[in-house]
Amino acid sequence: MNSPVMQGLNLNAPAYVKNARLLAWVADMVALCKPASVVWCDGSDAEYDRLCQQLVDAGTFKRLDPAKRPNSFLAWSDPSDVARVEDRTYICAEKKEDAGPTNNWMAPAEMRKTLQPLFDGCMAGRTMYVVPFSMGPLGSHIAHIGVELTDSAYVAVNQKLMTRMGKAVYDVLGTDGEFVPCMHTVGAPLAAGEQDSTSWPCNPTTKYIVHFPETREIWSYGSGYGGNALLGKKCLALRIASTMGRDQGWLAEHMLILGVTNPQGKKYHVAAAFPSACGKTNFSMLVPPAGFEGWSVTTIGDDIAWIKPHADGKLYAINPEAGYFGVAPGTNTLTNPNCMASLHENVIFTNVALTDDGDVWWEGMEKDQGKFPAHLIDWQGKDWTPEIAKATGAKAAHPNARFTVAATNNPALDPQWDDPAGVAIDAFIFGGRRSTTVPLVTEARTWMEGVYMAATMGSETTAAAFGAQGVVRRDPFAMLPFCGYNMSDYFQHWLDMEHKLESMGHTLPSIFCVNWFRKDEAGKFVWPGYGENMRVLKWMIDRIEGQATGTDTMFGVAPTYGELNWTGMDFTPEQFNTVTSIDKAAWVEELKLHEAHFEQLAYHLPQALVDTKAAFEKRLAAL
Ligand code: OXD
Ligand code: MN
Repeated sequence: MNSPVMQGLNLNAPAYVKNARLLAWVADMVALCKPASVVWCDGSDAEYDRLCQQLVDAGTFKRLDPAKRPNSFLAWSDPSDVARVEDRTYICAEKKEDAGPTNNWMAPAEMRKTLQPLFDGCMAGRTMYVVPFSMGPLGSHIAHIGVELTDSAYVAVNQKLMTRMGKAVYDVLGTDGEFVPCMHTVGAPLAAGEQDSTSWPCNPTTKYIVHFPETREIWSYGSGYGGNALLGKKCLALRIASTMGRDQGWLAEHMLILGVTNPQGKKYHVAAAFPSACGKTNFSMLVPPAGFEGWSVTTIGDDIAWIKPHADGKLYAINPEAGYFGVAPGTNTLTNPNCMASLHENVIFTNVALTDDGDVWWEGMEKDQGKFPAHLIDWQGKDWTPEIAKATGAKAAHPNARFTVAATNNPALDPQWDDPAGVAIDAFIFGGRRSTTVPLVTEARTWMEGVYMAATMGSETTAAAFGAQGVVRRDPFAMLPFCGYNMSDYFQHWLDMEHKLESMGHTLPSIFCVNWFRKDEAGKFVWPGYGENMRVLKWMIDRIEGQATGTDTMFGVAPTYGELNWTGMDFTPEQFNTVTSIDKAAWVEELKLHEAHFEQLAYHLPQALVDTKAAFEKRLAAL
């Protein structure tokens, strides 16, 4: 153990930390939060092992059976702290309009006044961990550095898997390099001599996830879970980074990035935006089905893409993360075999169930195992049996239970995943979750149409948290909870990218709109999804190569039945029609909903989007 520990007011920073602003900031935050000690994380394996053991000793982690899941741990959170808290998430720009109607806003000065007393002494009795991390390959011109100060060892070890975390970051940072300060506390100070009465300290009543875009700061109070606490992910890599992208001419997107290689060895790169919990991890690890021998799909990222225009006129993308924080329930070898293979060892599981033989279980695994386990301990530490589940509906794993795993565990990891230059994007895909109306796939005829498709995408609500079942929640670019500035200005930023790239003389990436979720009259999904989505991906590549003519529809160019490769799959022209047809009456209603959506975003809404809606209406009227 070589991490220096602070005693008294001596920060005891390691000699390799030379950044004056960082040292001054840590000193200020120690004075404010009053931790009992400070640990400067070096990112070593020895440090990871030590902190994991410490979490085991504190009861936060259970070590899983070393033969079944080597070096893997299970944490159960407080039942009040199980997901991102969008209603407690703030964008504190100086002007309310700059946060826009899709974000909670408070004036920065007022928010600082609110946070000051909360952070004052918030780490009493706890250790402050200084966690330096790079979002993106170390030293990449697309990457950025963050430093998280946290009183959660759980956060520190998760950051080791999720980011490039540790000592090497200080070499990039040097004496005066830039970093985003990320302040995090679970908001549960301990009185003198007091011990934790819980293995998941958090603040059950007060939570704030706060972003100051102008000064590029993040302040998170009260939660230890996921995106609320792992501040490199949604807070830095999306909300703060989207504002950096606006100011500096690049894009920070809620997108997976994959490579797809055809049997001739030609490789394409695709970035795809889907709302949370719509299968981004599955799509990024897709295994091509029968009929696609010689094809391969490789993962660059499963959640976030940073995309910058390069002097050659192409858009280059990196995955700012280095790991996956994915939803466990529903994952099995049928839906995502590469993911299951990633989870064999060195994994942190949160809020899944514990089996009697020291392994993990979640809903969906019964499909692999052919049966439900006879007995489990559920994510709240209670007995679970199939009988109890039947009688009470109790879930063994929380529906938002997660795994944290390093990208290097993924057998389908793309060889370029860590390339500092990034990969050149050939196509963007945007997809919501709609049981009707939106067809399986169409290609935008123009960049403008593509931006329109992305700006109006939406998902039917399934979780009670989002209100009534079946109501369409618009989630533009899958960025609704993640855009750090005014959504309409963000649309304009995307529109401006067209002219920027065209002036550089390169062909723009194609834009596709997809919907894997159309249902038939009996309410059943028609498209099988998962690996079969390869059939749609291949059609996209055929379009890029000019090998598929498609058919013009009111909402872009669609494939004909004959243009998809059906080898190895029974899917009739009637079924194809069910997932691709354009229902005129449904689209009349849909465009009315787009109008209402645009009314909400009226401030700075680009006129070009309104004009594009009118063009779609005209096409619809002509049907
Ligand atoms: C995520 C999310 O966790 O989008 O990736 O909520
Ligand atoms: Mn996400």
